Amino acid sequence: MNVFGIETSCDETSCAVVRDGKWVLSNVTASSLRLHKKYNGIIPEIASRAHIEYISFVADNALKSASKTIKDIDLVCVTKEPGLIGSLLVGIAFAKALSFAAKKPLIEANHLQAHLYASFLVKGGVWVKEKKEGLPKLPFIGLVISGGHTSLYRVDKGFSFKLLGSTCDDAVGEAYDKVARILGAGYPGGPLIEKMAVRGSPSRVRFSCNGPGGLDFSFSGIKTAVLYKWQNQPENIKSADIASSFQEAVADILIRKSIFACKRNAINTLVIGGGVAANNYLRGHFINQAAQERIKVYFPDRELSLDNAAMIAGLGYQLYRNKFHKP
Ligand code: KG4
Ligand code: ZN
Repeated sequence: MNVFGIETSCDETSCAVVRDGKWVLSNVTASSLRLHKKYNGIIPEIASRAHIEYISFVADNALKSASKTIKDIDLVCVTKEPGLIGSLLVGIAFAKALSFAAKKPLIEANHLQAHLYASFLVKGGVWVKEKKEGLPKLPFIGLVISGGHTSLYRVDKGFSFKLLGSTCDDAVGEAYDKVARILGAGYPGGPLIEKMAVRGSPSRVRFSCNGPGGLDFSFSGIKTAVLYKWQNQPENIKSADIASSFQEAVADILIRKSIFACKRNAINTLVIGGGVAANNYLRGHFINQAAQERIKVYFPDRELSLDNAAMIAGLGYQLYRNKFHKP
């Protein structure tokens, strides 16, 4: 079954073709990020206008690079929520029109749940072999770390999602972006802080983000702690040291709570998704520390960590099967 995915929840206009919920035949993304950079954040009105401009072109290219036409598509799947309302509307309107005109069924997927599905995808077609580490198995604990959300899920048979905990204030990606702004690094902050942190030492200054108990998170306190430290910094502390300590504190809480969720649910598979999952430091530490607890961690291919339509098409396939093909 070939599924055509459409993702427009934020600043990326993305369309993809995924076969049988696994093989990514194409994944084409146009981003309006450069138009937002000078504002240090995404401007919703600019994002939705850019989606209108890009979407037909991106959709055509996704079909072409998968060597498919609309006739080869069996199902259309679009991001329903969460996201910027004007941006979502462009994708949903386009998906409805496509589904109606081409007489293909339409299904909607949740963006956060789709981020976790990204680890179940393999770049398909003729060019890349199956992933070495294999694919995760259900049930699993899923951690979504993106620009707008930080959430832990338990995911069971049939991809049924149960929310276990989430952030009470800022999301992890948002904290990266705000810290980058404080340190004058630019936008988006995640990759810039990651680069900066490599040059610093985490031992010159210490941060923590212990926040609430249980499986909820809080990342607004650490942002304020960084601000005060930066404003009153002693001579020997550089921005790279602050970036490094910030990153260490964030990784520590994400890893601890994810492992706690695995143990509490007696599940030893952990799946991570969302833009912050592209972070190499986090990937390495997650894998090592979880291995000590006999928990296997799965990350998506780096390009599928960020917003993309392949994850939407992949999850759409599973949701459609559950809806219409129950045994
Ligand atoms: O999932 P995503 O592409 O969009 C949302 O659904 O929000 O995530 C975007 C977030 C941004 O906050 C960005 O700073 C962060 O992901 N990010 C990173 C890295 N690459 C992107 N954070 C840390 N390290 C990275 N390498
Ligand atoms: Zn996202």
